Amino acid sequence: MGLSLRDTLIDEPAKRPHSRARLEPLPSICKVAILGFGTVGKAVTELLCCSPSLQLRLTHIYNRNVDRKRVPWVPSQVRWTDNFDEILASDVDVIVELVGGVRPAGDWVRQALCAGKSVVTANKHLIATEGDELLELARKANQRLLYGASVAGGVPVLCGLEQGLAGEKLFRLTGVLNGTCNYILSQMQNEVVSFTTALARAQEMGYAEADPSHDLGGFDASCKLTILARVGLGAQPRPQDVYSRSIEGVEAVDFECARKLGCTIRQVSLAELRGTQLYAAVQPALVPLASPLAQVKDNQNVLITAGVHGGETVFSGRGAGGGPTSVAVVSDLVSISRPESFLGSPNPRELKAYPLNHDLESPRYLRLRAPKDADISYAVSRVLSESGVSVHSVLQQSASGSMGSAPVMTLEPCRLSNLEVALERLQKLEHCFAKPLSLPIMN
Ligand SMILES: NC(=O)c1ccc[n+]([C@@H]2O[C@H](COP(=O)([O-])OP(=O)(O)OC[C@H]3O[C@@H](n4cnc5c(N)ncnc54)[C@H](OP(=O)(O)O)[C@@H]3O)[C@@H](O)[C@H]2O)c1
Repeated sequence: MGLSLRDTLIDEPAKRPHSRARLEPLPSICKVAILGFGTVGKAVTELLCCSPSLQLRLTHIYNRNVDRKRVPWVPSQVRWTDNFDEILASDVDVIVELVGGVRPAGDWVRQALCAGKSVVTANKHLIATEGDELLELARKANQRLLYGASVAGGVPVLCGLEQGLAGEKLFRLTGVLNGTCNYILSQMQNEVVSFTTALARAQEMGYAEADPSHDLGGFDASCKLTILARVGLGAQPRPQDVYSRSIEGVEAVDFECARKLGCTIRQVSLAELRGTQLYAAVQPALVPLASPLAQVKDNQNVLITAGVHGGETVFSGRGAGGGPTSVAVVSDLVSISRPESFLGSPNPRELKAYPLNHDLESPRYLRLRAPKDADISYAVSRVLSESGVSVHSVLQQSASGSMGSAPVMTLEPCRLSNLEVALERLQKLEHCFAKPLSLPIMN
């Protein structure tokens, strides 16, 4: 849909079909259409079909080539269609977008809002990249756009931030937000398997997609962190602004060394306001074994919020899968059908564009790879000290094995910019035959 049609619909409310003021109660039965009959779409359908007390009535299911999607357990009154215009022209009150991706999902969300329908979505990619514009459009169209399932699946983190912690002044959000990475790292920790084996197991279990790069490289978690930073910190980063590092370089030996330090390794997402700057990163990091970040198992998620008045609050639970995610979707539907209980998403115009800073100081873990009989300790110390980085302790000089030796050390708190200079130089050392692995140590 082009801008002109959109603007026409918004500027001339009288022409909008089925338009209803956002905070006006919906009719006692709220009519719902689902776009996308995949993992989450099926689970939401099941929940709606078996929960008549919620006053939500599923009327349409939309999917491409819809005939192959039909299942006998959906009541016969529900209409299956592969024509989106049919849904737009119908009297449904809320459209649930469960297709995923930015296109065409974003266009459908716009058209739905302009047609006077509220929208619920589980689509983190869409909300992280176009959320501000879509929320503004929803406001202008007097409709609701809710996305509680887009972060941490079944764990109610967004409504926890928007409602439960509305009175708090939050300054830090730390979480394990990607179930695939958490499953892989938990397997490496508990079963002492290689990264490749753990990834293959995640794919067998259906936790990792055929192309897992968005999960492993941190893009999926960056989208979620972007949404959390907007809702919890009033900040406005974009997913591509988040500093991200892949978990792919982590090896079994890193877990052994982490254990000696009383830690394990997790993909940690962190957004923190420091003065007027925002720090936002998704990267593998050492976390103390006693921390909730370490205790989150398999494909679970956890979020720890830190506030000025109430200190830390922890949300945790199943972050993915049809069942948990469908609960979050249906909770948003209930919230739309009972608007009096709703506080609302932050107004995009009130969000601040904090300058981003990734150059924070933290203690670090450093592991190198060298031939078994090579002594690189002198060269490594020289590079580190010339880069302004000090060694705190040496964990192991070398560990024998088919992959050569693995000198491991911890570093005194140092700036990322200094460390990156050192890593670049270390990688070029004569006997260093793999990229050094450096992980921040969380406290
Ligand atoms: N799965 C989870 O655990 C989880 C958790 C939280 C959030 N989410 C989010 O929920 C959304 C849905 O995820 P999912 O796991 O349910 O995905 P999925 O299993 O791949 O389902 C997507 C459905 O949408 C249909 N579809 C895709 N592109 C379409 C198009 N262009 N036109 C019409 N239909 C189209 C697919 O049909 P085909 O069968 O023809 O491909 C499929 O039925 C995503 O935004 C995801 O990020 C998922």
